[in-house]
Amino acid sequence: PAQEQALEQILAAHAGQPGALLPILHDVQHAFGHVPRASLAVIARALNLSRAEVHGVVTYYDHFRTEPAGRHVIQVCRAEACQARGSEALWAHACQRTGCDEDRAHSADGQWTLEPVYCLGLCASGPSVQVDERLHARVSPTSFDATLAAVEA
Ligand code: FES
Repeated sequence: PAQEQALEQILAAHAGQPGALLPILHDVQHAFGHVPRASLAVIARALNLSRAEVHGVVTYYDHFRTEPAGRHVIQVCRAEACQARGSEALWAHACQRTGCDEDRAHSADGQWTLEPVYCLGLCASGPSVQVDERLHARVSPTSFDATLAAVEA
C-alpha cells in the first residue's frame, strides 16, 4: 500500500505531461530501486498505453531494472576501449566472483547486482568498473576482488 501510494503520487506529479513515460519510470526506479513488475500495468493505465508498450520501454533501456538490486551494484564497462584493455576477462572474473552472469544480474544471496555498461567515461584508463556509484579505473581481477572485499566488510 505504501508503494501503491508512492506510485500514485509519482503519476499525479506527471499527470497531463507529454512524454511522461520516461520521467515516470526514472522516478519509480529512484523511489523503489527498481521498476516493480506490478507497477507496469498501473503506469500503462495512467498513460493510456498498453502494458506491453511500457514493458518494451523498460526492457529497452539498460538503466531500468524490474527486480530489486543486490546490496551492492557493480557495473563493468564492456565497450570497445575497455575491451581492448581486457574488460572481457574482467567481466568473466566478475561473474565468477559474484555468482552473476549475463542472464542472472542478481546473486542468489542478495549481495550483488552485476550489470554490463557501455562506457563510464574513463576509456583511456580501462578496464573501468563502477561499484555503488564509485568509479574505478585500470581494474584488474585482483583489485576487483579487493574493492568487493572492502564494500562487503
Ligand atoms: Fe569503458 Fe569508455 S569504454 S569507460
